[in-house]
Amino acid sequence: MAILEIKNLTKSFGDNEILKGIDLQVNKGDVVSILGPSGSGKTTLLRCINFLEKPDSGILSFDGIDHDLSQITKNDIAAIRKKTGFVFQSYNLFANKTVLENVTLGLTSARKVPKKEAIEKAMDVLKKVGMDEKANQYPSQLSGGQQQRVGIARALATDPEIIYFDEPTSALDPQLTAEVLEVMRTLVDDGMTMIVVTHEMSFAKEVSSHAVFMADGVIVEEGFGKEFFENPKQARTREFLRLATN
Ligand SMILES: Nc1ncnc2c1ncn2[C@@H]1O[C@H](COP(=O)(O)OP(=O)(O)OP(=O)(O)O)[C@@H](O)[C@H]1O
Ligand SMILES: [Mg+2]
Repeated sequence: MAILEIKNLTKSFGDNEILKGIDLQVNKGDVVSILGPSGSGKTTLLRCINFLEKPDSGILSFDGIDHDLSQITKNDIAAIRKKTGFVFQSYNLFANKTVLENVTLGLTSARKVPKKEAIEKAMDVLKKVGMDEKANQYPSQLSGGQQQRVGIARALATDPEIIYFDEPTSALDPQLTAEVLEVMRTLVDDGMTMIVVTHEMSFAKEVSSHAVFMADGVIVEEGFGKEFFENPKQARTREFLRLATN
């Protein structure tokens, strides 16, 4: 069953067309990796799908309901965003709030979950990412890898149907990257539906049910399972994978 389907999504910044008609389908339990050179539009795509950026046109279906992106309403956007989680490259934690507060905020504010219940849920997901013992610390007291694990806990807390990851480990050194990828593997094992923009090719190859290679605002090639990584069809994909896996 498709959770998310987009058809012909476009986005320009001024005269600059960044996404030139993207089609993508994500089924329940899929792990979709999005690969591509810097500037190809990967972040813009994720941000458009989650309405952190306003897409110009296209159709987005979520849970089988079609929305025309050129005229989607605030209510529909809010309803979709309640079912999604987002993990940012730069963590985006509130510096003046504790780990626990960072995770409970999305529950108590937008979703009106009672505080006690929100704390229980937050401790649950913090435990899942191995950060329950740091619940009362502030982000500045944590390593980058620990902050990103809190970012993942925050995304998990609202029981999303799908989580979007934008290069979650690219700001981290190899040791901390490994910690974060380990947490992400547990989500894959749990059957979480995810879209992951990443430059971690061996991780992408290991976990992806579906991989997409983007360049210059279009999908150049996509494939299922390891086939995409082992036997890319397009010269541009081959070249990218060759350089990225060296
Ligand atoms: N808010 C913005 N205003 C104007 N141009 C933007 C904006 N955000 C992104 N762009 C442009 O859109 C293009 C795609 O950027 P995007 O961040 O989506 O690329 P990316 O594939 O995520 O790259 P990277 O791998 O470096 O993160 C770039 O040319 C960028 O300069
Ligand atoms: Mg990016």
